[in-house]
Amino acid sequence: MSTAKKEFKKITTHSIQEMKSLGEKISMLTAYDYTMAKILDAAGIDVLLVGDSASNVMHGHETTLPITLDQMIYHAASVVRAVDRALIVVDLPFGTYQGNSKEALNSAIRIMKESGAHAVKLEGGKEIKESIERILTAGIPVMGHLGLTPQSIYKFGTYNVRAKEEVEAAQLIENAHVLQKSGCFALVLEKIPAKLAGQVAKELSIPVIGIGAGNLVDGQVLVTHDMMGMTHEFNPRFLRRYLSLYDEMLGATERYIKDIKTKDFPNDKEQY
Ligand code: KIV
Repeated sequence: MSTAKKEFKKITTHSIQEMKSLGEKISMLTAYDYTMAKILDAAGIDVLLVGDSASNVMHGHETTLPITLDQMIYHAASVVRAVDRALIVVDLPFGTYQGNSKEALNSAIRIMKESGAHAVKLEGGKEIKESIERILTAGIPVMGHLGLTPQSIYKFGTYNVRAKEEVEAAQLIENAHVLQKSGCFALVLEKIPAKLAGQVAKELSIPVIGIGAGNLVDGQVLVTHDMMGMTHEFNPRFLRRYLSLYDEMLGATERYIKDIKTKDFPNDKEQY
């Protein structure tokens, strides 16, 4: 049964803005492939993020840095083919927008043209303002991302909570306003204190979506593989697992192997 305040047939950047006005929380998950995206969309997820976390969960890298623009487009195009309702946002990967605003625009155009997605997401604050504004001139909606920004992991040194101290918190608030003023349609806040995230959500008119940022924001996002329990070694406090797919899939694979070895599979009814 739907718990939505208003039914949206197709989600656009305007729909999620309306959700914020209605006080309806926005649901967002990551997706990188057709089959998973089809299930999440059928369940009624509002936003699907083709995150550069694909570098970790799909490609097995330690960080998000190695994934390329071509690889992001490949994942995004697979997701686009699956989806009828959700808004599809794609991460611009590391090294494809930090150089200059022309490079950022070219990268965003390639994503939109070659995948058919609806918007892009960039990590950073005032240092990427010019790039955001240039992307917007081409009519491409931009989602911002502040707090723990994994593309800067070697600058931070750890994946610990960000903006706990006053100076960094003040910078984050300032950057959030810069992103809104630049024209971002929404903002992701990752791993920052709940109170600070709530303050940003209250001060901004655009939707603020949190991951590890508490419940005072306008919506929540998780990495699907973590939320479904397909990964099992990553256990941050903010993660709620809805399934234990790692254990279920491990068990199923073990049973399959056993059935083959014992000549139980296939049986008479499972052959021609
Ligand atoms: O890449 C990603 O999955 C993300 C989310 C964690 C917000 O950016």
